[in-house]
Amino acid sequence: MSVQDKNNSHFDETAQAYDDQPQVKEVTKRSSNIIIEEFKASTSADHVKNASVLDFGCGTGLCAFLVADHVKHLLGVDASKGMLTQLHHKLDTLDEFASVKDKIHTVNHLVTDDAPLPEPEATQYLSGPEGGFDMVFSHFVMHHIEDVEGVTRTIANKLLKKDGWLIYLDLEGATPHSHGHEGHAHSHDHGDGHGHGHGHEHAPHAHGHGEHSHGHHEHRQHPEGHEQLTQAHFVDKDGKPMEIVPHKQGFTPENFSEILRKAGLVDVSAKHCFGQYRDSHGKKIWMDVMMVKGRRA
Ligand SMILES: C[S@@+](CC[C@H](N)C(=O)[O-])C[C@H]1O[C@@H](n2cnc3c(N)ncnc32)[C@H](O)[C@@H]1O
Repeated sequence: MSVQDKNNSHFDETAQAYDDQPQVKEVTKRSSNIIIEEFKASTSADHVKNASVLDFGCGTGLCAFLVADHVKHLLGVDASKGMLTQLHHKLDTLDEFASVKDKIHTVNHLVTDDAPLPEPEATQYLSGPEGGFDMVFSHFVMHHIEDVEGVTRTIANKLLKKDGWLIYLDLEGATPHSHGHEGHAHSHDHGDGHGHGHGHEHAPHAHGHGEHSHGHHEHRQHPEGHEQLTQAHFVDKDGKPMEIVPHKQGFTPENFSEILRKAGLVDVSAKHCFGQYRDSHGKKIWMDVMMVKGRRA
């Protein structure tokens, strides 16, 4: 079974409880605000209002619903049917999402370079000189994907329109200069079927001391005495490394920027966005989140 197949089964099986993970709503709310703010800062408020956007790996819609409120149209693509079933259940039953219901469409699809979208969506969204999305975002998906460079190339060259923006938010891992305390974490996450990406996954960290700003605006400030996660936390209930997370080390602004540049994107920038405690099996664990963005020339 490939990593992707394992991912699909995992998310299919855990979709129903995905939104119940501790702090998942808070993280996705903070991240969605950042996605919109970064898009506005890169273009304009008017452009954002009229934008057609793609949520790559939209899951149960936690970011999609919030981002859709600010744009004209949102397509969510996800390889897991179970996650999309949850998304539609919420959209159909919860009044709080009534205002975005008509703006959101989804497609159950594994994005590949040969088939970035299936039909009829490929023709509908990608054909013609104006084809492609004004913005593609992806939240907490890339650490599940083996070939991040390949997927990024596909998004950059086949899904974005000219001058369209790609925005990723994902786990922020250790920088080359960080004073890692790898091996100091004693608790294990057991990947216990409540889904991944939030309450049960945590950033391996650029630990405490000597937090570097990466040349960006925000310094990471980790409270003293916290426990931060390392690669050692990405283990299953038998203590085996979790195959569904190929990037257990997370990403750094530097390596994520390099991936976007290699895909041909320009005006690339990246930064630490926020850190927050996550509750994991009753333990408070610190997680860092970073953003990278770039424009199709
Ligand atoms: C951790 S969840 C994040 C969901 C959502 N973005 C959020 O932040 O709540 C990762 C999602 O990415 C989807 N996914 C993983 N690999 C994918 C791929 N290659 N193509 C489409 N979706 C994928 C999974 O099915 C899952 O729904």
